[in-house]
This record gives sequence, C-alpha cells and structure tokens, in this order.
Amino acid sequence: MSKLWGGRFAQPTDQFVEAFTASIQYDARLYPQDIQASMVHCRMLARQGIISPAEAEAIVAGLAQVRQELDAGQLPFQESLEDIHMHVESRLRELIGPVAGKLHTARSRNDQVATDLRLHLREQVDLMRAEVRAMQQQLLALAEVHVETVLPGLTHLQNAQPVSFAHHLLAYAEMLERDGERLGEVRRRINQLPLGSAALAGTPFPVDRLWVAQELGFDGICRNSMDAVSDRDFAMELASACAVLMVHFSRFAEELILWSSPLLGFVELPDAFCTGSSIMPQKKNPDIPELVRGKSGRVIGNLNSLLVLMKGLPLTYNRDMQEDKEPIFDSVDTVRGSLRVLTDLIPGIQVRRTVMAQAAEVGFTTATDLADYLVRKGVPFREAHAISGRLVRRCVELGCTLAQLSLAEMQQVDGRIEADVQAVLTVQASVNARQSLGGTAFATVRQALQEARARLADSCLK
Ligand code: ARG
Repeated sequence: MSKLWGGRFAQPTDQFVEAFTASIQYDARLYPQDIQASMVHCRMLARQGIISPAEAEAIVAGLAQVRQELDAGQLPFQESLEDIHMHVESRLRELIGPVAGKLHTARSRNDQVATDLRLHLREQVDLMRAEVRAMQQQLLALAEVHVETVLPGLTHLQNAQPVSFAHHLLAYAEMLERDGERLGEVRRRINQLPLGSAALAGTPFPVDRLWVAQELGFDGICRNSMDAVSDRDFAMELASACAVLMVHFSRFAEELILWSSPLLGFVELPDAFCTGSSIMPQKKNPDIPELVRGKSGRVIGNLNSLLVLMKGLPLTYNRDMQEDKEPIFDSVDTVRGSLRVLTDLIPGIQVRRTVMAQAAEVGFTTATDLADYLVRKGVPFREAHAISGRLVRRCVELGCTLAQLSLAEMQQVDGRIEADVQAVLTVQASVNARQSLGGTAFATVRQALQEARARLADSCLK
C-alpha cells in the first residue's frame, strides 16, 4: 500500500520498521478527539473559503461514518498505517474518494496530534476531578461516624498523642482537595489550541484559529506555532499531578495495610477487596491497598519518562515525542483505577473502635498533657517536659500507665502536681484539649468536617 506521505520515496518501508514506528496500538484511543477536531477544522476551511461547502459536507459526513465504524470496532488497525491520524484519513479516502485529501489543508500531524492529546487529556482530567470528589465523599462519610473514635496518632511510627479517627481521615481529604486543585490548574494549561500552527511555522492559508478554539471548547490558542507543536509540558504537569496523587494514595494504602494487620487490628477490610493464600488457610491479604501502593511506582516513573523524553529535544516536533503517549495514558489509567478501587473499598472498612481506643492508651500518649498541665501551673515548658519525662520513666519502672501512677508517686517527682492532674491524663481529655484551629478536639473536628462538606458541595457545583 502506498503511504499518504509516500511521494518522495522510491522504496517501500521496511516491514519491521513499520512495526517499530507504529503507535496505533496505543493512540487509537484518541480517535474521538481526532475526528472531532478534524470536523471542526474542515468546517473552518469551508467558512474561510479554503475549500468549498460541498467538499466540507462530504468530508464531515465521511468522518461521521469513520467514527461509527470505530465506535463499532469495525475498522481494522494495521501497522503500515502508523497512527490513528493515518487510519482515519485513509478510511475517509476509501469512503469519499480523493476529496478526503483536502482535509489536511493548512494542517500537519504535528499540530493535529498535539490538539488530539490536549482534548483527550482535558476530558480525562474532568473525569478524574469528579472521581477525586467521589472519593472525598466516602472519606467524609466514614469520618462522620468516627469523630469520637480515638486512635494513637503516630510520629516515627511510635505512639505520640491520641487523635480522633475522623481527624486522621480528614487529613487525606485535604490531600485529595489539593490533588483536585492541581488537576484544575493543569487543565487550564492543557486547554489551549495548537491547531493552525501546521508543521511548525504556521500556514499561508487564512485559517481562523480563534473560531476553531471556540468550537472545540478551548480557552484560547497556543500563541507561538513552534511552541504549539513541540510543547509537552501540559503532559508533564499532568503526570506530575498524577504522581503526587499516587504518593498520597500510597501512604493511605500503607496505613490500611498496617491497620488491617493482626499486629494492630484497627480495621477489617471488606472481603471483596482482599485475597487469601493458596497455602495458609487463615490469611486475608490486603492486596488492593498493596497494589495501589505498588502502582504508585509506575506513575512516578511515568513522570520521569516524560521529563527525560523531552529534555534533549531541539525545537520543534521530533518523532521521539510519540513516546509521550504511553506514559501519560498509563498514569491517567492507573490513577483512575486506583481512585475507583479505593472509593469502593472505603465504605466497607470495619473500624474496631475498642482496639483503636486501647492502643491509644499505650505508650504514655498523654505525657504532653501532663507537661501542659504543669505549664498551666506556671512551670516553663522545658522544665515541665523534663518532669513529665521523669514520670514516664517511673511508669516504665513500675510497669503502669501515667493515669495509674499514684498522686504520692507523682508528688515525689514534683510537688506542684495536685489531685486535679487525673483529669488531664485520660485519652478523651487529651483529644478534647486540642481545640486550636486544625486540631483534633471532637468539636473542632466536627466543625472541620462540616466545612469540608460545604467545600465539596461547592466544588461539585463548579
Ligand atoms: N504518531 C505521531 C505522534 O504521536 C503523530 C505525529 C507524527 N508527525 C510526524 N511528523 N511524523 O507523535
């Protein structure tokens, strides 16, 4: 078969080279955008008198037919046709004859592929943003019933201070909020139209780029034709937003894995999201969180792939850039898959409140409250810290908790401690004392939850 670009070639392409250069296996997913942008480009050509209205009509009708065939999976792909752009154009030619060749007037595959990719990623970003909100909803719903569920907050994986479980969950809701914002900001830069830049230098035909931009829902046009065909930073930015989001998911996954381990036993994950062992009958493994944690690796890698892919390229288009698609598609797919699986898993999490509460008692988690108590009696914090530390050491020697230490024992270490100390040594009191903005006191968390709900409802409307 002769190539659409075959004019200056005397010999056919090597067969392995055809397979090596083909991108149809992965850029086929761009067909809806390829056809949509071609239709608008064609109508623009007619509006501007570059082709006739009848020619435009034939091309647009032909493109609609090609889209139907692709929708139905009826158009066979072949490596000799390289990519999705060539497949669409060559089928169009079969359907409507040589007039199909007029579609590529004032256009190049270079501005075409950049346009298709931007349209596709814009759609994916919108879907992702909605999916992020759906996961936030689930986090908030779980938080709602666990404002007063207490677990040990950790630093260095060591028991630090008791916190509300809702507070812990809301921390992830905050991360997701920023992930959503990042996606929204990337969208603004994705949503600029390259088409009309042609190969790299613009076109002598009187195209109307602003009209095309408007018809395709772009916010504006890429201002410089050379930048338009060679910029892929919108893909790098999206890959970066995806990588950050997956790092958040990986941390959440890690917590689910820890919490569900019999070592902690804080939660039970739903059976539908776990698997068993082929040899150990008792096992229930948290494969889903593990895979989410594992998949964060490839998403981080995809960002690296794109950065390295682009770093040495001179302006403008280079065929290297065809390699942009698999990493960014994979990042989007992986993020969306992870979003779905975590969103579905969260409502099935069974929380073992008493196990969490008991764990919150372990490790002298109210030692800071004891120091703060002394501060309120006028002791400088550094000194109070040292006194509380000595009392913890005494507890370790006696094998008891701070609350179990007798007043006499305490007063031996520091005479300023009085009977009212008991009130600050319980886990509940410790949590409730932290009423600073952003803190874990139940009332503060309830307020934060309400605000998070309102923000989410607001962003759903936007
Ligand atoms: N499949 C190509 C890509 O994804 C389309 C652009 C080809 N342009 C070219 N001048 N060969 O980058």
